[in-house]
Amino acid sequence: MKNRFLISFCLLAAVFGFSLSGGISAQDSGVNFAEHVAPIIFNNCTSCHRPGEAAPFSLMNYADVKRRGKLIATVTESRQMPPWKADQGDVEFKNERRLTAAQIDTIKQWVAAGMPEGNSARMSPMPKFQDGWQLGKPDLIVKMGEGFKVPADGPDIYRNFAIPLNLSEDRWVKAIAFLPGVRAVVHHSLFFYDSTGDALKQDKADPQPGYAGQMGGGLGGGTLQSLLGGNRGAQPRGAAFGSLGGWAVGGQARELPDGLAYFVPKGSALILSTHFHPSGKPETETSTIGLYFADKPPTKAFTGIQLPPLFGMFEGLDIPAGADDYAIEDSFVLPVDVKAFGAGAHAHYLGKTMKLTGTLPNGQVKTLLNINDWDFAWQDQYQFKDYVTLPKGTRLHVRVTYDNTVANPRNPRNPPHRVVWGEGSFDEMGSISLLVVAANEGELPILRQAYSEHLRSAFQNRKSLPNLLRRDD
Ligand code: HEC
Repeated sequence: MKNRFLISFCLLAAVFGFSLSGGISAQDSGVNFAEHVAPIIFNNCTSCHRPGEAAPFSLMNYADVKRRGKLIATVTESRQMPPWKADQGDVEFKNERRLTAAQIDTIKQWVAAGMPEGNSARMSPMPKFQDGWQLGKPDLIVKMGEGFKVPADGPDIYRNFAIPLNLSEDRWVKAIAFLPGVRAVVHHSLFFYDSTGDALKQDKADPQPGYAGQMGGGLGGGTLQSLLGGNRGAQPRGAAFGSLGGWAVGGQARELPDGLAYFVPKGSALILSTHFHPSGKPETETSTIGLYFADKPPTKAFTGIQLPPLFGMFEGLDIPAGADDYAIEDSFVLPVDVKAFGAGAHAHYLGKTMKLTGTLPNGQVKTLLNINDWDFAWQDQYQFKDYVTLPKGTRLHVRVTYDNTVANPRNPRNPPHRVVWGEGSFDEMGSISLLVVAANEGELPILRQAYSEHLRSAFQNRKSLPNLLRRDD
């Protein structure tokens, strides 16, 4: 009886074209790997899922993808992969790593249909990848001279490495790619140039590879503001020492927009100011760096507005154990018209949400960056597709929240501890930097001046003055 019912149901289904699973069945839709799934995977996943890249396994052919088909359907549906933490807000991002709902559905249907390969003669071609370099082959590749030994455990280590660039003329750099040798131990690396020779001297004087100290090793003490991000990448031409941006876990090299570049004077050394976090296993790190030169000098200078300044150093950050929504906030009113081209957020494991908005003089609120599920492992620099114009009088506002409970799966401590500002991975920080050019080039100094005043006032009204040398307990 039961069987007869099933048979007649199937007949009905066949006649009316619906299936037991409802709607168009996966089988009927003819979704196959070669024609439908391969292009999605090759264009959105393989850049990282191939040998030598950040992901732990390859997704380069039918067998690779079939082996993990179910998991792939799950992580694409939850949008855990491809990794992209910024919500779709009021601005569009460049190179956004986000699948469309239709692509997610195609993968789901393919898995439900038993993952057919399809006609391999129709296999979608794999894009050309340059080994190790997401932006293609760099114009200049340099490497740390000697590997730096990172012990299995103990406190975080800050170390600077001076690498001669041997440039015989001044250059303009539009992107810097950083390839850590051992991803597990490198938390971040900030890049600087030094044309005084001082960094190379310090490196040589220290018997171990590199030399001690943070943020470029205390060079150019007066430039603390620029070193720590306030004016990232914004040194006027002619400065002997300057910032060249940086890399943090999960970050990918990005080219500056047309007409913008970092200045690197001839004879400079590149300084990597690297933060190591021991991984439980002794490792030796040798980082490789690729520089991409601009063919012409930039037409504009740019600057960064980091809120709160210095990664929240003066904000009195003090997160009680068990707090699930601790917040710090800061705002800054633009003194001139600007055009913004990107934003990046930074916090450690307790970070929960990060939001940067601009309230225009007419009251309109623009969300420039909104990360609702902060993940320490994915610290991208988000570039806007087009410049976002923010008129004079726009109020930038940053709010960073933290979750110091056991419900935060990334909380490194169970039971949770009170956590204050500090540079160790298990301490906290928090800020968002907005990268801008002045709409009228001549007004950039006014913006820099106003930001310096903002920094000074944050220092004068500080709620805390952390000891920069604090270490993990
Ligand atoms: C920007 C680099 C990058 C891209 C692009 C990327 N992945 Fe990943 N993927 C990673 C890394 C790194 C990991 C391991 C760490 C993690 O899980 O975050 C990972 C992990 C995974 C895992 C294992 C997850 C788990 O919970 O075990 C799956 C499955 C996966 N990726 C599938 C995909 C698919 C499918 C795409 C494309 C739609 C994709 N990834 C795009 C870097 C990437």
